[in-house]
Amino acid sequence: MRYKKLRAGFEVSRIGMGCYALSGVYGPSDPDSFVSVLRKAYEMGVTFFDTADQYGAAEKVLGQAVANVRDRVVISTKVGLAKGYGRDCSRRHVIAACERSLKNLATDWIDIYHIHFDDPTTPVEETVTALEELKTAGKIRAYGLGHLPRARVEEYMRYGHPSTLMCELSAAAKRQYLQYRDLGISHGIDLIGFSVTARGLLTGRIGQGHTFGETDIRNIDSLFYRERMTAALSVKDVLAQVGAQHGMTSVQVAIAWALRQPGVAAVLTGPRNPEHLLENLGACSSELPDAVWADVERALAEIDYALERSVLQTIADLAVGELDVEPERAFRDLVYLIEGAVDFNLISETDALTAFARLMAQKAGAQEERVQIMRELHKTLSELVKHAWDTKSKETCSRSKEDSVLSG
Ligand SMILES: NC(=O)c1ccc[n+]([C@@H]2O[C@H](COP(=O)([O-])OP(=O)(O)OC[C@H]3O[C@@H](n4cnc5c(N)ncnc54)[C@H](OP(=O)(O)O)[C@@H]3O)[C@@H](O)[C@H]2O)c1
Repeated sequence: MRYKKLRAGFEVSRIGMGCYALSGVYGPSDPDSFVSVLRKAYEMGVTFFDTADQYGAAEKVLGQAVANVRDRVVISTKVGLAKGYGRDCSRRHVIAACERSLKNLATDWIDIYHIHFDDPTTPVEETVTALEELKTAGKIRAYGLGHLPRARVEEYMRYGHPSTLMCELSAAAKRQYLQYRDLGISHGIDLIGFSVTARGLLTGRIGQGHTFGETDIRNIDSLFYRERMTAALSVKDVLAQVGAQHGMTSVQVAIAWALRQPGVAAVLTGPRNPEHLLENLGACSSELPDAVWADVERALAEIDYALERSVLQTIADLAVGELDVEPERAFRDLVYLIEGAVDFNLISETDALTAFARLMAQKAGAQEERVQIMRELHKTLSELVKHAWDTKSKETCSRSKEDSVLSG
């Protein structure tokens, strides 16, 4: 294992272990066997463990697993999500949630307290005040941010001292990381990449047509849908080919790739059993020559270029076309449309959040009612996307006119 001293002043293992699976997102999870995997990870040199107040019983399970070695590990947990996909980063909520997390984790301090998601209704200054108070009281040692729009991250940097930024980072999903990369390189923030195996996609154990359990979030995950899944599997093939030539598996190359990205201090993975843990940690044991990485980057860039165009086309088709008549397909298309539109800055984070909350809330309703709500949502999203497109093309037109005047 390799280690890195964070700018917050303490050291973490470069591969950390996350507890998201305990929330049941990847299907049912057994706490006892997860405790064994967490302890095994520590034995193998992992000193960085991540959880969240919204990952089911994960804080309690993690607290129990590391109780004997508490002062030798770094614990990160998160705050900011409220019931029903709501957000709450108010001072009152942050302080109360921290007390609950300390109790769940059975510890006196949290090493890194992360703002899990943005709460657009609370001024950043208020949240920062609460975090700084917790720091002064010794209840947290540092704080960081995750899933926040870039502009919001900059606001946090103006008012306070966030020391880490969490972002999705895999060879198949780089968008969040690229949004923050320069902050990691030159603005005194440590980037922590998560989902480095692309939630299992880069392991080679998931192919087209793979079926997940009924409650598995990957059933609606955009990375596992349409051209994004096809592209991710092509990425996996590239990594597998390189791995085969250098005695590594595709997922080991994937994790090694994430670890070498500029500004990245550590990455988080969430293996569920000792075999997968062993495989993932093996990413730290081999070094690939720079020339090999250059070939990998070239191959990934080609896949990214084609994917970007294809996703944009699909968003346009989904926005202007009719919603699929089959409800589950319509549901997945709407998730894809919301996530794609926000990625390409066609709708705001707040609009996306509202749409997503509405989409999830209708899931339990009767079929007819669900279809009606999805149609209304589709209409709203279409209007937002079309409006953004019109505005962008007008801007592009006037810019090219200016260019021609100047160059003339
Ligand atoms: N995902 C997020 O939105 C998010 C956000 C913020 C922070 N985090 C933190 O980052 C941590 C890591 O993210 P993640 O859990 O998404 O990481 P991940 O390692 O990309 O995905 C975990 C899933 O990938 C599969 N997997 C991992 N290693 C494998 C291997 N060697 N062979 C086969 N399958 C393997 C497992 O699937 P099966 O369950 O099918 O075995 C596992 O449940 C989280 O636990 C959490 O603490 C995550």
